This record gives sequence, structure tokens and C-alpha cells, in this order.
Amino acid sequence: MIVALGCDHGGFVLKQAIVEKIKQLGFEVLDFGTNSEDSVDYPDFAIKVAEAIISGKAQRGILMCGSGVGVCITANKFKGIYASVAHDIYTAAQGVTHDNMNILCLGGRVISPQQAALLAEAFLTATNKGQEERHVKRIKKVLEVEVKNFR
Ligand code: RB5
Repeated sequence: MIVALGCDHGGFVLKQAIVEKIKQLGFEVLDFGTNSEDSVDYPDFAIKVAEAIISGKAQRGILMCGSGVGVCITANKFKGIYASVAHDIYTAAQGVTHDNMNILCLGGRVISPQQAALLAEAFLTATNKGQEERHVKRIKKVLEVEVKNFR
């Protein structure tokens, strides 16, 4: 699996820990930056990660900003992106198994790099293969909303 990463200055502190964890897990990293704590605009990085997933260059993404919120809102503007902030292990995995989450969003001013690495592991090792019927039904309803409301 190829994992696209993007962050602003507020999320940069988490990125290095996540890169190491992804490599340890045997996955490939596609790193869109930013690469310092100099101030940048989070939408620029969220757009790159969302586009990488939609084009098939990556299968999942992890976005980081100060809170996780700005990158999450931006990514969810793309059809086919299911992004969520998840700062606990249960949600990071359940978002994939129940809800087809394909981008995990994290806040560098909220959690530690150690917690971010654990969350990345929970997210990337969770699968939506063999999803139970009730989840498939609910995801289909979400898709209907997407088709109706996205141009
Ligand atoms: C940047 O200061 C900050 O607004 C950004 O990192 C993020 O927290 C937005 O949601």
C-alpha cells in the first residue's frame, strides 16, 4: 500500500514519527510536505493528498495540521474522499472497517508523535474487506448523498 502524507507547520511535528511507523509496517510513503515549521497554508497539502488518492497514486492518506480540522474539511471537499479526525485508536480503525475512511487527520497541537504513530498503525492495518452487510448498506447511503450533492 502507498500512503500519501501531508501537513502544515502545525502538523509537521507528527510527520516524522508517522513516516518511520509506515516504513516499519512495510508500506510506501508518498510525502507531499511541508518539511519545516515555517508557516504555510493547510489546504495546499490537503489538496495534494486528496488528489493522490483520487488518481490512484496512493491508497490511503494521513493529513496533519494544528488540530486536524482544517485538513479534514479541505479533503472532504473531494468526491471519493472520506476523511476524519481520529485521536483514539478505536476510531482510527473503526473509521476504516465501518465507514471506508481513506484519510486520517491528526492534530499536532493535540496529540504526541508517539500517539500519532499508534493511530497511523491502527488506521493502516484496518481493512474494509469483507465488510458486514449493515455497513455496506450505510456506506451505500453515504454514496447516494455524495452523488446527489457533488457536481
Ligand atoms: C494553523 O495555525 C492552524 O490553523 C492549522 O494548523 C489547523 O489547526 C487548522 O485546522
